[in-house]
Amino acid sequence: MSTGDGTTPPTEDPGVGGGAPPEAPPKSPGWARRPGWRGIVLRVALGGLILFGLIQLIPYGRAHNNPPVTGEPSWNTPQTRVLFQRACGDCHSNLTTWPWYSNVAPVSWLVTRDVDGGRSNLNVSEWNKPQEAGDVVDNIRSGEMPPFYYTWMHSGAKLTSAEQQALISGWQATMLRSPPIAGR
Ligand code: HEC
Repeated sequence: MSTGDGTTPPTEDPGVGGGAPPEAPPKSPGWARRPGWRGIVLRVALGGLILFGLIQLIPYGRAHNNPPVTGEPSWNTPQTRVLFQRACGDCHSNLTTWPWYSNVAPVSWLVTRDVDGGRSNLNVSEWNKPQEAGDVVDNIRSGEMPPFYYTWMHSGAKLTSAEQQALISGWQATMLRSPPIAGR
C-alpha cells in the first residue's frame, strides 16, 4: 500500500538480506489434525481390533464341555445313530465337535448358545433324563433342523432327501423300542 507521495514508509521492507523470512504457520502435531478418510478408516480398524481383543477376555463361551454320556437311546441300527450324530449330534448330544473358531468370540458365544439350547431340548447322550423327542420328525421334514446357518459351516451335516427319510424312519423305529422317559 502506498500513497504515492513517498511519505508513508512501506510497512514491510525486506531490505538487503534484512529481516527474517516470513514464518511458516506452526505445524500442528499429527494427532491434532482433522483426520482424512484414511485416518478415519485406520482409527475404526484399530478400535475394532482393540474391541476384538477385549471381548476374548469374556469367559462366556470358552468352557467347551462334553459332559459324560449317561445314556443313549437303543438305536434301531448303527446307521441311524451315525446319521443323527452327523446332522444333529453337535447340538443334541454330549459328543460335540468344537471347531477352532468356537474359541473365538463372538462366534464362540453363538456356538455355545446353540449347543446349550440344543442339549436342553433334546440330548441323546442323556437318555436317562426326560427329553423333548416329539418334534424330531417335524423338524427334519420341514428342514428346520439342522439350522441353515449351521450347514453353511458344516456342509457334511446337510441331509439329502433320502437321508432325511432314512433318519425319520430310523428315529421312529428307535423311539418305538426306546422312548424317552416321562417327565416333559
Ligand atoms: C447348530 C446346532 C443344532 C443342530 C445341528 C441341530 N439343532 Fe435342533 N435345536 C437347536 C437349538 C438351539 C434348539 C432350541 C431352539 C429353541 O429353543 O427355539 C433346537 C431344538 C430342537 C428340538 C426341540 C423342539 C423344537 O421344535 O424346538 C428338536 C426336536 C430338534 N432341535 C431336533 C433336531 C434334529 C433332529 C437335528 C438334526 C437333523 C437338529 N435338531 C440339529 C440346535 C441345533
